[in-house]
Amino acid sequence: MAAFNFYETEETAMSQGGQLAIAVVEPVAGVRLNLEDRLGPSVTGFDTIEQVLPQLNGTATVIVLGPSCSDASILGTVERMLSSRPDVGVVLVADELSTTILQLALRSGVKDVLTLQGDTLQIVEAIERVGVGLSNGAQPAAPAGQAMGGIPAGGDAGGGNARVTTVFSTKGGSGKSVLAVNLAVVLAEQSDGPVCLVDADLQFGDVAVMMKLAPVHTVVDAVSNIDHLDTQLLESLLATHEPSGLRILPAPLEPAFADQIGANDMITMIQILRRFCSHVVIDTPAYLNDVVLGLVEESDDVLLVAGMDIPNIKNVKIGLQTLRLLNTPMEKLRLVLNRANSKVKLDIGGVERTLQVSAEALIPSDVVVPQSVNKGVPFVLSHPKSGVAKSVRALAESLVGADAESRRFHG
Ligand SMILES: Nc1ncnc2c1ncn2[C@@H]1O[C@H](COP(=O)(O)OP(=O)(O)O)[C@@H](O)[C@H]1O
Ligand SMILES: [Mg+2]
Repeated sequence: MAAFNFYETEETAMSQGGQLAIAVVEPVAGVRLNLEDRLGPSVTGFDTIEQVLPQLNGTATVIVLGPSCSDASILGTVERMLSSRPDVGVVLVADELSTTILQLALRSGVKDVLTLQGDTLQIVEAIERVGVGLSNGAQPAAPAGQAMGGIPAGGDAGGGNARVTTVFSTKGGSGKSVLAVNLAVVLAEQSDGPVCLVDADLQFGDVAVMMKLAPVHTVVDAVSNIDHLDTQLLESLLATHEPSGLRILPAPLEPAFADQIGANDMITMIQILRRFCSHVVIDTPAYLNDVVLGLVEESDDVLLVAGMDIPNIKNVKIGLQTLRLLNTPMEKLRLVLNRANSKVKLDIGGVERTLQVSAEALIPSDVVVPQSVNKGVPFVLSHPKSGVAKSVRALAESLVGADAESRRFHG
């Protein structure tokens, strides 16, 4: 068995000052050779995971498991052998991406799962992503929970210590998701570090649809790995909206999965996102349950979205009273009036008096909103000059700008 060749990526060279070894493990020779071929000359092939172990010497190593390794017993071995090694990261290249394989692999500490038929570039990118987080040069093991601790400090320009903004309303259809999506896109465009949009409408989340994304991973994958979730694993589960660079953690694909997700799980995820993002935006369902309350508590800002009709205002008032009763600090609540120009004979001053708050933002009603929802292109991108896009940009600025502390709720 050949000793390792080394592979230098710009990122590993920069962050580790060193090398990355890549091992392909696949017992079926033809498949292994094909993978070695695709990944280039710096890759070393092995029949079994046991053969790789003696070769590990503290140099950062990414192990690429081939399709024959996607069974419970091999993945169990991988987990036992490698769980305490901050110098080794594992990705699995499977024949197909089923939920079962995905859960099995991620539970065993595998950092990413790709398909053999997929793009070679995606496999290479996954290897590089995993490689960046590995320790190099036989450093002492990181404390539990930080093992293989993901993105190195300063690895992402401007990332880390994110501000968390939850978009909430006790009324369905008030424009939460539209607002969360467009706000997050604006923040992603303006931010140096990563911006992540989390779809916490766990039963009926439609963020992915609004952005025309076909999610591979969802909140469910993050929760099923919550015990060993770190920045790197969570980052590998996020989808990317290519036009804006926004990262997305989509809602479960089926409503039934919502039951598996507890408030503590969601809070853990947000806390990990905080570590490497500049801003986290959370879309929520139209009710207050323990998950939503946990997220409200965890957030720096809560945007209360109200449509301009009486049922909307009534529900927002009830929502506000509930939040007050639960001792939510009023200074983090901000009122956003949606469809604020519509000819519905409700004047803004009247609404503000009823709710005893002043509006932080007024979002006009505009036909480009439903048009852009149906096209799956956020209106801040498709119609950047529209009034509605301008109002969302102003809102984004008020969240990150110097006046972020002003114009809050009076308490
Ligand atoms: N400012 C607006 N102008 C026109 N239509 C809007 C506006 N805000 C929301 N809508 C429409 O209302 C629908 C519901 O919005 P959505 O964001 O899905 O609500 P929620 O997430 O609160 O249930 C969207 O499909 C969108 O077309
Ligand atoms: Mg919604």
